[in-house]
Amino acid sequence: EKGGHPHFMFKEILEQPEALHKTISPRIRDGRVVMDDLQLDPDYVKNISRIFIIACGSSYHVGMVAKYTFERLLRRPTEVVLASEFRYSDPLVDETTLAIVISQSGETLDTMAAMREAQRRGAKALAVVNVIGSSIARDADHVIYTWAGPEIAVATTKAYSTQLMLMNLLGLYMGDMLGTIDPQEYTDIVAAVEKIPAQMESCLADKAEIQYYASRYFNHNSIFFIGRNLDYALGMEGSLKLKEISYIHSEAYASGELKHGTISLIEPGTLVVALGTYEPLFDKAMSNMVEVKSRGAEVLALTTELCRDKMEKNADATICIPVTHPVLQPSLGIIPLQLFSYYVALQRGCDIDKPRNLAKSVTVE
Ligand code: M6R
Repeated sequence: EKGGHPHFMFKEILEQPEALHKTISPRIRDGRVVMDDLQLDPDYVKNISRIFIIACGSSYHVGMVAKYTFERLLRRPTEVVLASEFRYSDPLVDETTLAIVISQSGETLDTMAAMREAQRRGAKALAVVNVIGSSIARDADHVIYTWAGPEIAVATTKAYSTQLMLMNLLGLYMGDMLGTIDPQEYTDIVAAVEKIPAQMESCLADKAEIQYYASRYFNHNSIFFIGRNLDYALGMEGSLKLKEISYIHSEAYASGELKHGTISLIEPGTLVVALGTYEPLFDKAMSNMVEVKSRGAEVLALTTELCRDKMEKNADATICIPVTHPVLQPSLGIIPLQLFSYYVALQRGCDIDKPRNLAKSVTVE
């Protein structure tokens, strides 16, 4: 059932291009995003004053990426909240609030409770779910499915990627309804979306290089991920993946925050994974990277073909991914980070598919 692979996680990492294709292809027709499974009244959408994205764990990290994309495409204030915080926060919700709830399993208790709380206060809940007919899917006002197929490994990979992509499509769809997207940008993003599965294949084809970096760094006992904007959101997921399955202490930091405390933890040999895939802020990312380097950090950098030369001049090692539209860059950036966690955990002899203390779906508070 693992298709000849040693772990479900590895199988699921490799399945991502196909899973994405299934999530994308029914929803793009003649260069336009269509959502046959979503009946959103345009008048309702025009009235939305505020969006909450509510989720836990990796699904929350999808929300972190989507916040940037939604605010760019919809020009509506979009807040990402952990479900366990939202439910007890006396949230400012009314009928003009849209609550987007993201959950692979559709059974996460906190996410379910937060969704009910938003609905009780007058919001409509739109759920992005993988498991068909799950509790969240049943109780939401609207549901759209990620077509990732069953995900067995505790550490999510293909569900994360398909959630991310579905949020992009939703942002395009609603932004189009609102007229808040520049038509050229809309066309560019849709065209870029269609290329993502093939580009992802090429990221996966570089797995031997990532395995090599894992063998070089698996013995570190603390790893920092730094980045700005979408790279910060990406780093949060990269860091969670790593700690979840390899048990290495890891933290993700917004690069600009380093000076406000964390940089004191950098000592000679500390591994910093510097994310510089978001081209508009590449120079800023680079200067933060140089700062940690000058304090002795070992820097493993991630960037795109656009900035590769500059990055290679400063980092100890550089992983390069193909270029896409900036809002989609995390969809490619996540591949080497998943592979890195996987190979590090493999080197350390961890129980990859069933890491200690964790369950696939958290149905208790
Ligand atoms: O099923 P859900 O998406 O609601 O699950 C949320 C989290 O429990 C989940 O993403 C968790 O963080 C993963 N194990 C991360 O790999």
